[in-house]
Amino acid sequence: MDTQHIPVLCDKVIEFLKPKAAGIYVDGTVGLGGHSSAILNASAPNGRVIGIDLDPEALVIAKRRLNAFGDRCCFINGNFAEMSVLLEERSICAVDGVLLDLGVSSLQLDTPDRGFSFNHTGPLDMRMRTGRKLDDNQEVTPTAMQVINDSPRDTLVHIFKRYGEERFARRIANRIVKARQQLPITTTTHFAEIVKGAVPQKTSKIHPATRVFQALRIHVNRELENLEAGLDVAISLLKPGGHLCVIAFHSLEDRIVKRRFQRCATACICPPKTPVCICDHEPSLQILTKRPIVPDVSAVAHNPRARSAKLRAARKL
Ligand SMILES: C[S@@+](CC[C@H](N)C(=O)[O-])C[C@H]1O[C@@H](n2cnc3c(N)ncnc32)[C@H](O)[C@@H]1O
Repeated sequence: MDTQHIPVLCDKVIEFLKPKAAGIYVDGTVGLGGHSSAILNASAPNGRVIGIDLDPEALVIAKRRLNAFGDRCCFINGNFAEMSVLLEERSICAVDGVLLDLGVSSLQLDTPDRGFSFNHTGPLDMRMRTGRKLDDNQEVTPTAMQVINDSPRDTLVHIFKRYGEERFARRIANRIVKARQQLPITTTTHFAEIVKGAVPQKTSKIHPATRVFQALRIHVNRELENLEAGLDVAISLLKPGGHLCVIAFHSLEDRIVKRRFQRCATACICPPKTPVCICDHEPSLQILTKRPIVPDVSAVAHNPRARSAKLRAARKL
């Protein structure tokens, strides 16, 4: 399946990343290759892209779509949080730009078997990476089904509150615990029905299961932990003058990006009441987007999934 995918804020990404000939760029979330293709075009004739993705199925499509760029592009099935090790294995220790376009791809959302969406019936899976063990050091990621059926009630409450900012977290967890005593919860639509039955009707314009699905996905894939680690390694890998672009799709992610950029851009990180600076902190980034860049109305009309996107960009000092 070659799902059509429109890369979000692509022109802006190119404007901030400033790809140049002979440059080396990391697309840490290559997905279906939309942004990578634009970076390769903008860095012709010999700029290179290292495309990383957790999802082996996405990489198969990206490879096919970017085939025409030949060896200017290479693909790695892995986690952007481990980008420096992955690059070191290919003898690359510094790069000119990094892009992280966070979250799920349209391929993942639109494939019922992946279990990301309550709009399709499928197994409650939600792993960006398949469950196969790639080597002995890697843990097998638990599926959303395992989390929902095996976690204690309080863990579920924590997941829904922390990653979904869901105000009915406890009611939903209570309903899940009751339902799973009768029968394991195995499908996306069964799970969505349970959530729907737990929250008061008409409290929001969005589907009542939206936040809980987001929360589960973030938990299963350790998305916030990966983002924290990924920002650190991306910043450390950039050459002076190199650019970092991050597109976030919800406030939890965007807050992490905003704070990390601010911290890296300030000269002093001493606690506020410290009379004299003792931190010796050196700023490592210049923030290029005072406010996050958001898609305009026509971009959202063409690609409704772009509506919550926020792009932040910075330059390594
Ligand atoms: C929004 S899509 C990217 C779309 C891509 N920019 C394009 O133009 O097709 C996000 C992708 O990031 C991947 N992903 C999410 N977290 C990741 C991580 N920690 N490491 C590597 N890939 C990740 C997902 O599997 C998904 O394919």
